Amino acid sequence: MEYRHLGKAGIRVSELSFGSWVTFHTQADVNAAKEMMAAAYDAGVNFFDNAEVYASGKSEEVMGLALKQLGWRRGSYLVSTKFYWGLHDNVNEKNTLNRKRLIEGINGSLERLQLDYVDIIYCHRPDKTTPIEETVWAMHNIIEWGKAIYWGTSEWAAAEIVAANEIAERHHLHKPITEQPVYNLFERRRFTREYQRVYKEYGYGTTIFSPLASGLLTGKYNQGIPEDSRAALEGYDWLQDDVTDKEKLAKVQALEAVANELSCTISQLALAWCLKNPYVSTVITGASRVEQVHENMKASEVTPRLTPEIMERIDKIFEPKKDEEED
Ligand SMILES: NC(=O)c1ccc[n+]([C@@H]2O[C@H](COP(=O)([O-])OP(=O)(O)OC[C@H]3O[C@@H](n4cnc5c(N)ncnc54)[C@H](OP(=O)(O)O)[C@@H]3O)[C@@H](O)[C@H]2O)c1
Repeated sequence: MEYRHLGKAGIRVSELSFGSWVTFHTQADVNAAKEMMAAAYDAGVNFFDNAEVYASGKSEEVMGLALKQLGWRRGSYLVSTKFYWGLHDNVNEKNTLNRKRLIEGINGSLERLQLDYVDIIYCHRPDKTTPIEETVWAMHNIIEWGKAIYWGTSEWAAAEIVAANEIAERHHLHKPITEQPVYNLFERRRFTREYQRVYKEYGYGTTIFSPLASGLLTGKYNQGIPEDSRAALEGYDWLQDDVTDKEKLAKVQALEAVANELSCTISQLALAWCLKNPYVSTVITGASRVEQVHENMKASEVTPRLTPEIMERIDKIFEPKKDEEED
């Protein structure tokens, strides 16, 4: 496993990490979570991603119990959580990054995770109604109180990230250090275009999510929707159009031919492709069972096989249409 700096921050994250969205509580109980986290940790993963909203707080409870039972030294791993959607459908508690909610949020997360602090707290989405300055101050205070070490953003526009950095600079506050954006062979425009400025001028890191496009880039949807897959889960039917899209499936099949030549699986190739981008600090993988973790952790071994010629072939397969290219 290689470790990459989170942008210009001192901390280093394993290039492959592990997250709990959809899976913890819904597909994996504490024992299954423990097994998957241990498989990832044994492969060198040092970063575990979570969010307050995942399974309405239950995902944090599962990870907290798993960490307690695994008994790893706290210095040996990083945990993150995120705030925005909230846990209660109530004014001031939903879709917000106001100061009160963020402070209540971190206290609740620490309790569910059974931790004294988390390593990274993210603003899970931008909040158009709270001044960015209020959010920056709250994140700064949470860090000063020792409840978090670093903070970051998720799916913020580059202009919002720049604004947060400038406010923090002006008031000598802790700056956000990383963005958590989607990045995979199908969805990369914002990552490769809009964020260039924040990598180069602000030294921002990235912890990228959904590297397998929720499983589409594993080939598992090539013959329809398997019963035990994410797209078959109650509440995830919104994924079904995407994972059965004929054009996308044809691209996955073309990728399979390249994977066969490289003696790896489609999933490993799709993850290795993400790892090739130097602005990716870590690829957050997801899994519903331990076999997937074992398979995905081998992606690092595939990266050296991605020669410029192979990268060009992959790019040709996933070339966006002209109208998708425009900003
Ligand atoms: N910041 C954000 O807004 C945001 C959004 C999304 C995710 N995230 C973070 O990023 C993490 C990863 O995202 P993601 O779960 O969407 O990642 P993903 O890699 O796109 O999808 C993971 C899912 O694909 C299937 N899968 C994975 N490896 C497989 C394999 N080798 N063979 C067959 N199926 C496989 C599993 O689902 P099934 O087995 O159920 O089909 C697994 O749960 C999340 O856990 C979360 O921490 C953050």
